[in-house]
Amino acid sequence: MDNKFKIYIETYGCQMNLSDTEIVSRIVKNAGYELTDSLNNANVVLLNTCSVRENAERKIKERLSQIKKYKNGDSPLVVGILGCMAERLRNKILENNSIVDLAVGPDEYRKVPDLIQKAFAGEKGIAVKLSRVETYDDIEPLRKEGISAWISIMRGCDKFCTYCVVPYTRGRERSRKLALIVDEVKKLWDEGFKEVTLLGQNVNSYKCPETNSDFADLLRQCAKAVPNMRIRFITSHPQDMSDKLIETIAEHDNICKYIHLPIQSGSDRILQLMNRNYTYEHFLGRINKIRSLMPDCALSTDIIAGFPTETLEDHQATLRALEEIRFDGAYMFKYSPREHTKAYKMEDDVPEKEKIRRLNEIIDLQNRISKEINQSEHNKIHYVLAEGPSKKDKKQWSGRTDTNKVVIFKPKETTKVGEIVKVRIFDSTSATLFGEIVQ
Ligand code: 5AD
Ligand code: SF4
Repeated sequence: MDNKFKIYIETYGCQMNLSDTEIVSRIVKNAGYELTDSLNNANVVLLNTCSVRENAERKIKERLSQIKKYKNGDSPLVVGILGCMAERLRNKILENNSIVDLAVGPDEYRKVPDLIQKAFAGEKGIAVKLSRVETYDDIEPLRKEGISAWISIMRGCDKFCTYCVVPYTRGRERSRKLALIVDEVKKLWDEGFKEVTLLGQNVNSYKCPETNSDFADLLRQCAKAVPNMRIRFITSHPQDMSDKLIETIAEHDNICKYIHLPIQSGSDRILQLMNRNYTYEHFLGRINKIRSLMPDCALSTDIIAGFPTETLEDHQATLRALEEIRFDGAYMFKYSPREHTKAYKMEDDVPEKEKIRRLNEIIDLQNRISKEINQSEHNKIHYVLAEGPSKKDKKQWSGRTDTNKVVIFKPKETTKVGEIVKVRIFDSTSATLFGEIVQ
């Protein structure tokens, strides 16, 4: 099909969604559509959505009400909801005079062009079947030019943490073939990418469907195949953080020394109610193992404040855990009940005000720790992958350390995007390091 219709895609939520948007972009491009960066000249707008917390869905509903005015223009605007929210809300998202014309879940993106065409003919469409096999292996993501690329290595999640909607919106866990992923890393290097992030809801439960190789095997093979490519990965589950995996990360210089390991709570009772399948002691054991092999490895985590039945004592256990482990950073949330999950049936009994109070206490503590850790970086040397002019001040550039910290520095005239520069840190905040290039 050849047409001049332009599609504008907006992405919400996690990196998986950003990576899925690249897959959808390729699918619609192959079907003859053009992509545009602006809603103003678009004939189709697709929102790739997130359902993980109520707030995420609220933002998208607000966005839909803004988009409504575009729909009243001269040429009809087709509106599509993709991803987790489409999967969760299904028909509901199309009903009651909704401006939404199509709803497509994470495993049905191949149907997007067909449903867009039907929408132009005035027909609302929905495709929300989950698959046990779909990995979009044959579709090359349409990546934006740059130095950093995502590679989705697996889809779905089988962990069923009791608060989490992901197993319901993204379905069962399935991994892509190791050989294909390694080939993709090689190809990206040849195209000029300097860094890849291997993505999955649970990358360390990766299992190659062909060879049964695990995530450590995959990391090792990627690292060996392209020794100068920086290799990152998110997200890991503490239960699957094996010694073999930690040793593999330690053994290869090009596997970045940064691990995101969500703890969620410091209380064993709450961890059990969350179905996390580990105790605080196990979690601490993993951290100690990581630090014994890689003393400079940066660590970040996720925390949920105010899970059902959480007492002040449980909350204190989380604060103690943060003090004891001293993560470099954390993503901190208040508990948000999600329909269909097991926790939804538990009473959401921590009052909203108290949830916010606990969350703020966690945030304050973590900010103090992040600031202290960043201060201890002063005078240290880091190798920074230069990403280009910083958003705030175009004369300064930003880049990331191997440990995933953002560094602002003044470039030399010869500094190029994608170059690794040697930088000495002289200042910092809780979120950013400031450095100068040294020889
Ligand atoms: N409420 C609050 N936070 C949640 N997360 C997942 N589900 C919920 C929920 N229902 C958080 C977890 C997870 C991160 C991606 O989002 O901390 O690790
Ligand atoms: Fe959700 Fe738990 Fe799976 Fe992460 S591991 S996606 S929190 S169910």
